[in-house]
Amino acid sequence: MSGSCEVRPLRYADTLEEAARRVLPEEVHRYVATGAGRSISTGEATGAWDAIRFVPRVLRDVTRVELRTTLLGTEVRSPFGIAPTTLQRAAHPGGEAEMAAGVADAGGLLVVSSNSGTPFEALSETGAAWWLQMYVTADRPSTAPVVERAVAAGARALVLTADTPVVAAKELGERTVWDAVEPGWLRANFPEPDPGSDPSRLEKARDLGPQDITWLVDTFGLPVVVKGVLHPADARRCVDAGAAAVWVSNHGGRQLDQVVSSAEALGEVSAEVGDEVEVYVDGGVRRGVHALAAAALGARAVFLGRPALYALAADGRTGVARLLGDLAGELEEALRLSGHVAPEGVGRDLLHGRGPGLDRL
Ligand SMILES: Cc1cc2nc3c(=O)[nH]c(=O)nc-3n(C[C@H](O)[C@H](O)[C@H](O)COP(=O)(O)O)c2cc1C
Repeated sequence: MSGSCEVRPLRYADTLEEAARRVLPEEVHRYVATGAGRSISTGEATGAWDAIRFVPRVLRDVTRVELRTTLLGTEVRSPFGIAPTTLQRAAHPGGEAEMAAGVADAGGLLVVSSNSGTPFEALSETGAAWWLQMYVTADRPSTAPVVERAVAAGARALVLTADTPVVAAKELGERTVWDAVEPGWLRANFPEPDPGSDPSRLEKARDLGPQDITWLVDTFGLPVVVKGVLHPADARRCVDAGAAAVWVSNHGGRQLDQVVSSAEALGEVSAEVGDEVEVYVDGGVRRGVHALAAAALGARAVFLGRPALYALAADGRTGVARLLGDLAGELEEALRLSGHVAPEGVGRDLLHGRGPGLDRL
């Protein structure tokens, strides 16, 4: 072979970041890729999944594998969901609606950022199942209009992000994404602010507590998922306050840097609450074997942040659907090779050793 031959990655998923980089303005790509601080946790996320070792079972009938499941009653074709990310209209002109169309094609689940630049009604028109990700604002009643609009438009659950009392600083360089953002790309579902009202009312609550979970459950009539939980004691507090699910996440390493990876935190959280509520995880999940490891550690679903944004940027709805389909195919193969027929049937005995982070128990 000639030395000048370009070596292309074989997996579609592995081509996406580079393909996205070619079409995105540099400051947008940097914003997506970067973590908080020195991006230490962002850089470690995938490696933490890669470090897991399996002890597969043999002599089992794996003829029929079933990836279909439900997430809080929402039916999905496989346990890969799309995590909430802002600025999807910076990644693709169709933004969140294009993402939703790809998710609908794949029979998946989209979690939409409350900062969405697309009206919620347009998401439901694609046929995609979707949940609303939200922050509680400092002034609690100001939270309501966006949530009410999402409920009316067809959101099936609320995902409260709990790890963001403030948005962590990111080292983005001189020209940042905010120089490239157009006003219509964000907050399309917020009412016009009252002229003269104090803008600090709309900032994220720094005094978020379990009582806010209870308030959301009691007020809006949808199941509430709490995203950004890493400590098992916090998972317990979420469940005691009425949460229907707990989502283990370090926000893609975009909040506290040097925070534990979600792969390492997952096992403890599911040991604490996994018998009572659904547990999900995100952060660095890039392959079917990562989802297999997550299932072994107690997660009912894994969510994708950056890979979905890159697929959206590179190939729009087709890319999003292909990414989800490819990962489902990889998980199906990994299940068969490990001696399992469904993610729900995978237990901790698939892991060699106790599993990451479980030596703390
Ligand atoms: C560009 C970008 C924007 C994000 N915006 C939000 C957001 O608005 N709300 C939220 O809860 N999480 C947000 N996240 C975090 C993701 O939901 C998710 O936790 C993380 O990206 C998962 O890690 P991964 O990118 O390695 O898959 C964002 C992540 C990225 C990369």
